[in-house]
Amino acid sequence: MRIDFKDRVVLVTGAAAGIGAATARAFAHAGARVLLLDLLEEAGEAEAAALRQRGLAARFRPLDVADEADIGVMVAEVTAAWGGVDVVFSNAGIAGTFTIPQLTGEHWRRVLEVNLSASFYLTKAVTPSMIERGGGSIIITSSVAAEHVAYYSGVHYATTKTALKGFVRHAAFELGRHQIRVNAIGPGPMSNRMYAGGRHEAERLEAMAQNQPLQRPVEPEDIAHAAAFLASPLASAITGVYLPVDGGFLTGRNASQRGYFKVHNEEMGDPDVIRAKAQAATPKPLTD
Ligand SMILES: NC(=O)c1ccc[n+]([C@@H]2O[C@H](COP(=O)([O-])OP(=O)(O)OC[C@H]3O[C@@H](n4cnc5c(N)ncnc54)[C@H](O)[C@@H]3O)[C@@H](O)[C@H]2O)c1
Repeated sequence: MRIDFKDRVVLVTGAAAGIGAATARAFAHAGARVLLLDLLEEAGEAEAAALRQRGLAARFRPLDVADEADIGVMVAEVTAAWGGVDVVFSNAGIAGTFTIPQLTGEHWRRVLEVNLSASFYLTKAVTPSMIERGGGSIIITSSVAAEHVAYYSGVHYATTKTALKGFVRHAAFELGRHQIRVNAIGPGPMSNRMYAGGRHEAERLEAMAQNQPLQRPVEPEDIAHAAAFLASPLASAITGVYLPVDGGFLTGRNASQRGYFKVHNEEMGDPDVIRAKAQAATPKPLTD
């Protein structure tokens, strides 16, 4: 089964790197006209140029997703050039590791703008075009941090990613009557520009591979494929969901690898222990 986005117009934010770049590539290869949006002009231009060289329809436009006015200008431009918008992948995000005493109000507000408000600005800006075209799909990158205390010093990040789940539910409810579907993807931890070069990068990657049931890191292409599915007619009855794409991270294997549960689970994996525990648990006849 091949997903075909021929002549569909797709906006991807954070498209110069990581998940956004992989998703722009996936949509372009599936026939879409893709507008890559990012702060990083050189890298974004290079991604779009590489796609055009393969005969695919891709353009880059610089954008700060926190700039609501420029989002309006961008949507007007793409509507003039390509006729409207069918799919938005609202994915640009920032983090920064700060404990609460270290976190400044300025950084808190910037993270809220980029990670959270931008999805509102984009949704509001594309809704008229999607209504005119009879529907559309908005996909927002949340995170396992919305479900799980992922790391120390990320209260600002986790707050935005959790709020996006509420945004998705309510926007899906409100926009459903226009056949506009709104969904979130929750990537598991992976290697990216956000963390690359960090002091503990090697250990982090190793721990990620060990602590996910699939025992491999999640790759940007995994998220891209989930986004393509959610945007496609295959998902035409799916709206308002948070779809984890995390190698099973949220099943709790990571928790199960620590402390009491680590010992418990190792024991419970041993057939002799399972038999002994089953016998011990067999109810004994009541005697007087
Ligand atoms: N990598 C992970 O482990 C992970 C896990 C869960 C969720 N996520 C989320 O996935 C999304 C993409 O992350 P990634 O891993 O590809 O990170 P990345 O840092 O590789 O890419 C993010 C891109 O967003 C762009 N960007 C940042 N601020 C912007 C702004 N104001 N306007 C426009 N573009 C901006 C950056 O320039 C960059 O190209 C983010 O929302 C992130 O929170 C990542």
